Amino acid sequence: MNIQTTGVYQVPIGEMLKNFLKVLLLFNFLNPSIAQSDLDEALREIIIKNDLKPLDTPARSPKDLTRLGAMLFSNKLLSGPESKSCADCHHPRLGTTDGIAFSLGVEAQTNPDITPNITKRNSPPVFNLGYDDIPFMFWDGRVHYDKESKVFTTPEPALNGDNPKREDITKVMTSALAAQTIFPIANHLEMRGTSGNPIADAKGNLGAWQEVLKRLLKNNPRSDRYMAQFKKAYPGETNFNIGHVGEALGSFLKDSFTLVDTPYDRYLKGDSSALKPSEKRGLIVFAGRGKCIKCHNGRHLSNFEFKTVATPQLTPEGYPEPYDQGRFEVTGVKSDLFKFRTPALRNVALTSPYMHNGSLRTLEDVIDHYNDPSLSIENYDLTGADLSMYPAQNFVIDRDARRNKLRVNLISIGEVRRGINLTEEEKKDLISFLKRGLLDYRFHRQWGY
Ligand code: HEC
Ligand code: HEC
Repeated sequence: MNIQTTGVYQVPIGEMLKNFLKVLLLFNFLNPSIAQSDLDEALREIIIKNDLKPLDTPARSPKDLTRLGAMLFSNKLLSGPESKSCADCHHPRLGTTDGIAFSLGVEAQTNPDITPNITKRNSPPVFNLGYDDIPFMFWDGRVHYDKESKVFTTPEPALNGDNPKREDITKVMTSALAAQTIFPIANHLEMRGTSGNPIADAKGNLGAWQEVLKRLLKNNPRSDRYMAQFKKAYPGETNFNIGHVGEALGSFLKDSFTLVDTPYDRYLKGDSSALKPSEKRGLIVFAGRGKCIKCHNGRHLSNFEFKTVATPQLTPEGYPEPYDQGRFEVTGVKSDLFKFRTPALRNVALTSPYMHNGSLRTLEDVIDHYNDPSLSIENYDLTGADLSMYPAQNFVIDRDARRNKLRVNLISIGEVRRGINLTEEEKKDLISFLKRGLLDYRFHRQWGY
């Protein structure tokens, strides 16, 4: 009886619910959605005009190759003193960075007398780098790969040009990303160390790389296991070099840190409710009054061109130059002075502090900077960055008025050079877009926080 009654009543309750929902929908449609559909209309124009596209996930590499890369990424044997892995500076839980302005070099803890023992640049995230339309790696683009001609340009001459001396290495690597990964290993400050182990003491990059292979595949208790892993990753291969390490690391980074399922991407794919109204307004500021899209454009929200935005120049004391010359340090061309590769912006909420030197602590600071770059660079002081990590290190701020004026004058977009002067409301919306609109929430699930 009871069951039947419930059965009888289920229908009208269902109907009522449906009607109630209809009223709700209508209500929603008539009220906030009027503004929503205006926003969507404005965004449709922006999307067409700027050819905005979602970022698709690149094809996955063979599992065994990625597994080898995972083993290498967190393996301290790759560092001379066996005390530093890639993951220490690109930690998954810290948005694939280290969360501090300048990275601690491999000897920062063991030998604080070596100065500087921290990098002069901020450790960038390693998100979404496995695409063949990203030609340059590093803040100054010193690793380049031309996918048409398959030619590398790197700090190691033996890898460069049409007929590289070490073709045995270059022929294994298929991307700028793969080639990038072998350089921290050969860098005395980051991983290699200055002396007292075969990798640090070896001659040049090539010597260091050879010693790394020896240590991995011959001189450690797990060598047999590692050799088996290399052979599985590269079926039929018996002779391994640093190219095999680089290709595996590149595949691992691509398959683990491609995180492109953001509200922005979903919106571009047709889900008009993926972005909240404030984020939609933020995207309108991004493409309009903010002028951000002049440089942060294309499917990566970066054209990967070298630009300056007059970032305040903060440098650890002890470097030969008290300021970072950016792209100029690679090309020697005057017009490249103080220019850095425009960063892509997905998941930017996870990767503070910001800019090539971590000089801006939060996204709010970044927007304040763009709001008035001249004022920002003039007024910058040591309270701008979090330097509490480095009690024994001094820092230099470039206060040279002429150089700072040049930095501002080199900003290629007039409106940005003069300052974009946003209202508080526009700033808030822009920050919502950057923070939530560009964040792939799978990151939190995948990396457990
Ligand atoms: C001591 C900290 C440190 C270690 C260890 C380290 N990195 Fe980095 N990484 C950095 C810094 C700093 C930069 C930026 C340097 C520059 O641009 O001049 C960087 C840049 C990169 C980039 C370029 C990202 C881009 O957008 O251009 C990639 C990729 C990368 N590292 C991967 C790795 C891998 C793989 C390893 C291990 C083999 C590694 N890193 C080890 C600090 C570190
Ligand atoms: C003229 C080209 C240009 C314009 C316009 C521009 N940017 Fe940038 N952006 C860059 C470059 C280049 C950097 C790196 C500068 C550096 O490291 O010194 C950067 C850095 C950033 C960063 C830090 C990213 C990181 O990983 O550290 C954010 C966030 C950012 N821009 C957002 C914006 C927003 C928002 C706007 C609009 C208000 C904007 N940008 C306008 C070129 C530009």
